[in-house]
Amino acid sequence: MGHDRELERVDLYGCGFYISTQTTFTRQTRDTSSIMANLIFFSGSNSSHSINAKLAQQAARVAKEKGANVKVISLADYPLPLYDPDQQEHDGFPKAAYDLKKVLQDADGVFIASPEYNGSFTPVLKNAIDWVSRIREEGEPMLPAFTGKVYAIGAASPGAMGGMRGLVMLRMLLGNIGINVVPSQIALGGANDAFNDDGSLANDMHATFLNNTIDDLIRFAKAG
Ligand SMILES: Cc1cc2nc3c(=O)[nH]c(=O)nc-3n(C[C@H](O)[C@H](O)[C@H](O)COP(=O)(O)O)c2cc1C
Repeated sequence: MGHDRELERVDLYGCGFYISTQTTFTRQTRDTSSIMANLIFFSGSNSSHSINAKLAQQAARVAKEKGANVKVISLADYPLPLYDPDQQEHDGFPKAAYDLKKVLQDADGVFIASPEYNGSFTPVLKNAIDWVSRIREEGEPMLPAFTGKVYAIGAASPGAMGGMRGLVMLRMLLGNIGINVVPSQIALGGANDAFNDDGSLANDMHATFLNNTIDDLIRFAKAG
């Protein structure tokens, strides 16, 4: 982790705050240009005009600039009914569950930008994770798509807190299924006005949080 004498990092619920006597939000940079991690980006929203999808898109752009292979997916392309044990028993898993499992299992790292719904992550995200978590193909250990994987998380909200409370819950959920969630994260407050026309983040501090989060994702994904 980049660290210098002038910049103290404080992880409040893993939010990656920086406390400094100076009013800068820079961090020691590292060269990630030669890294070719395969990364998946998606949003936990099923809205067609999702601000979290915009955050996931921008995260993918940042990762691509750093040399990663990136793919942005949408949960809308993996339509899943509400998880139902009886349906699983009688009909097996929906094809979309297998498809999503394969995409996640093949990735070196994943970035999720999830809306905060009443202080937690969205039901559509939880439902997708629940379906995928139950698939165990021939010879596979438990939670084969998730165990030991590296994820980074973010949230975007029109509100000032940027969905930060939901990230606490999401970090916990992912940890419970064996995922290593990188320490840096981004909670993008005021998200309706946070993006430039080209999709980049208008505010330098926001851009730095995203940059640091993607740096960590690439570094840990490559190490894993
Ligand atoms: C059921 C529901 C609960 C919400 N709860 C919160 C909340 O706890 N905190 C928050 O910041 N925004 C909350 N919002 C507002 C969302 O942040 C906002 O709708 C946002 O645009 C959702 O992200 P999306 O555009 O990516 O779908 C809630 C929205 C809905 C529909």
